[in-house]
Amino acid sequence: MRFPLPVLLLVAAPASAAEVTFTRDVAPILNRHCVHCHRPGEIAPMSLATYREARPWARSIQRAVTSRAMPPWFAEPSVGEWANDPSLSEEEIGTIVAWVERGAPPGNPALMPEPPRFTEGWQLGEPDSVPADGPDLFLNQFVTLDIPERRWIRAVEFRPGAPQVNHHQLAFKADFTGMVEDGVPLTPKEALRASGSVDGRGYFNVLAMWGAGTAPTEFRDGAGRWIEPGAVVVMNQHYHPNGEEQTDRTLIGLHFGKGELRSEIQAVIAGEMEFLIPAGAPDHRVEYRHEIARDSMIVSYLPHMHLRGRRMSYTAHYPDGDSELLLEVPEYDFNWQLFYYPEKPKLVPAGTVIEIVAVYDNSEANPNNPDPTRAVGFGLQSTDEMMFGFFELVEVNGGP
Ligand code: HEC
Repeated sequence: MRFPLPVLLLVAAPASAAEVTFTRDVAPILNRHCVHCHRPGEIAPMSLATYREARPWARSIQRAVTSRAMPPWFAEPSVGEWANDPSLSEEEIGTIVAWVERGAPPGNPALMPEPPRFTEGWQLGEPDSVPADGPDLFLNQFVTLDIPERRWIRAVEFRPGAPQVNHHQLAFKADFTGMVEDGVPLTPKEALRASGSVDGRGYFNVLAMWGAGTAPTEFRDGAGRWIEPGAVVVMNQHYHPNGEEQTDRTLIGLHFGKGELRSEIQAVIAGEMEFLIPAGAPDHRVEYRHEIARDSMIVSYLPHMHLRGRRMSYTAHYPDGDSELLLEVPEYDFNWQLFYYPEKPKLVPAGTVIEIVAVYDNSEANPNNPDPTRAVGFGLQSTDEMMFGFFELVEVNGGP
């Protein structure tokens, strides 16, 4: 028995549902939202660039878009508005569903849109400095920056060597001056501890983050971040094994700003490192509170946990007693490390407390859990845990 009609009604099918075809209606949606990841040599397992490639996946595509599993995005839609939200509109989802329900017809080949163009090599042009050029990188590689004077960075671009297996990479800027023991730089954990503050202000900063399918980090309007000669760039890399042995040589390109740095982007690492999630705990909560020292605008959020991470939220408790939920990630997925850029930067007056709540599932019901029998605390391996609610802010001179 078939029930095509109720399905169509439920998803707000376009008026001309009977005529929905691949070339005219579906290909433009895939080109806009999917093909930068779903093309040969990229991270996604199959290409969706042509009718022949997409047609066998029609049912999976329908499932992926109606469940909103694709494109990957994890912010609760009722909280905040996001400049980089890639989600499909209800109408776009309706178009795809109508196409699949019609038997996924190809349509007139003459109406096939031009394939999107992707820049090969550096997307932002030749960088000013490529500090991570060199030997194959290991997890948490340290690279000392060789620049003659203090500069400010206006853009950072990662160029992953093997995009099929590169999932995400985080670059930290660390100032380990004086944080050396027996000639060996402290590990990020030791350095964080030694800095005396989990927020690690000034010592340990997120420089940039790259995830499959994300655009390079580019600060606009004279905004950027200082970097000093001898600063250490720490690369934290995560790979997604695809069954074949791969060699990755990732480059990181830094673009220096010209003229005056107008607003300094500060990365806040708000997080707890002293916690223990009991073995089997299905719903373990860890909280951290970070007080904003000076009137600021929050320009980005980056929730970070590992495989047991289940939910994370950021709430502002304002000095006047009001509270506001800023970002809610109800179904966190370690495989997708995403920055959330608010449509409008959020003003947080001095004294505002940003409360980060992380919830972990260390039970066997969590399919990603590497070992539910183990109590787990902070650590750098993905089989250990982390609790960081990174965010970036710009101080507001003279207050609002
Ligand atoms: C940021 C990169 C990215 C974007 C954008 C993206 N995908 Fe994916 N997609 C992936 C990756 C990686 C996988 C495989 C791993 C996974 O499922 O998370 C995947 C898996 C899928 C699957 C599941 C395949 C299976 O094994 O069942 C479907 C279907 C799919 N994507 C469709 C889409 C559609 C349709 C869009 C656009 C509306 C889209 N994707 C956008 C990266 C992406």
